[in-house]
Amino acid sequence: MPENVPTTAPAASPSSTALPIAPDRPWLAPLAGYSDLPLRLLCREHGAACCETEMVSAKGLLHISRGTSRLLDTCEADAPLVVQLFGADPGIVAAGADYVLARGFAFFDLNAGCPVSKVVKTGSGAAMMRDPANLAAVTSAMVRRAGEGRVGVKLRLGWTHDEQTFLDAAARLEDAGAAWLTLHPRSAAQGYAGTAHWQALRELKARVRIPVIASGDLFTAEAAVRCLAETGVDGVMFARGALRHPGIFEDFLALLAGREPEPLTGRRIAGFIRRHAALIRDFGQPRKDLLKLRTVIPRFVHGLPGAKEIRARMVKCHGWDMVHELADMLEAVDEAVSAEAQACRGNVAQPDEAS
Ligand SMILES: Cc1cc2nc3c(=O)[nH]c(=O)nc-3n(C[C@H](O)[C@H](O)[C@H](O)COP(=O)(O)O)c2cc1C
Repeated sequence: MPENVPTTAPAASPSSTALPIAPDRPWLAPLAGYSDLPLRLLCREHGAACCETEMVSAKGLLHISRGTSRLLDTCEADAPLVVQLFGADPGIVAAGADYVLARGFAFFDLNAGCPVSKVVKTGSGAAMMRDPANLAAVTSAMVRRAGEGRVGVKLRLGWTHDEQTFLDAAARLEDAGAAWLTLHPRSAAQGYAGTAHWQALRELKARVRIPVIASGDLFTAEAAVRCLAETGVDGVMFARGALRHPGIFEDFLALLAGREPEPLTGRRIAGFIRRHAALIRDFGQPRKDLLKLRTVIPRFVHGLPGAKEIRARMVKCHGWDMVHELADMLEAVDEAVSAEAQACRGNVAQPDEAS
């Protein structure tokens, strides 16, 4: 990829082709605070077939601030890209979509899954699962603006475990013109606790004709392969698994092809860190993103021999040369992260921390 390419609107046009939704086309999930341009490019270089932006407030787009605008930073290599919007008012979301379309983007996802209080208290995010009729109205308004095949919706099971609305919502969304659905099969009340109910993915797949993408507890490549086999979904989306290990996409593709993934050694992790740093230099906000890397790198090294020392150093890291010193240290570690450590969920960001 050329260096120092200015951040520009993508080459999306009304003739942009359909998104890749297939078992061997893994997506990077929308991750508030994390799925920015540098992380998306890193994941694409390691096999992500499609990426989503961090969630963007439709209302925020009407009074566009520098912060909101940066969420739409992209470049030629960052395609195909889906812009995720949140909002509960059909008129406001449609106006937000107009703004995004005018900037050259083509694909949208509507967030009906975020359980964070500042989002649900406005009736947006997971609160939309309580009102499937309005969820369908907002989706339909987006489809009228963006066109058929351009709008997906990301759902939860419902507001609580006893109040599951995803099947009702899915049928309405299909009628409203949604082109695909992503399900994170937890209730809003569940947040990120407990386990994701993959059985619901199978139920959703049986209910709708449009493609279904699975999200939820895909912490390893092996888990994603299992999820495909157990649920029959059309594709998978990595979230916390990719924050821990940006090479999860290529590991998953290797497994699907019957090959053994490359072991996750210190040397391999050093490669991710160096490349992430270079992408931040070229496409990010180096000063601000250094602080972000301080939270990302400890996740990369989770389970690696010497991880404790690396974490301790990272907390004190105040310059890019220290990031490279850490990568040098990791180069020397030929041992691999154990499978158990990769699957372990501890020490992984929750959205509350991100927003
Ligand atoms: C830090 C963080 C930020 C997230 N931000 C978003 C977001 O902006 N929009 C969204 O729809 N989901 C968001 N999610 C949910 C993920 O996209 C995904 O559905 C969820 O983490 C379940 O997948 P996992 O168990 O494999 O991590 C976020 C999750 C995390 C951990």
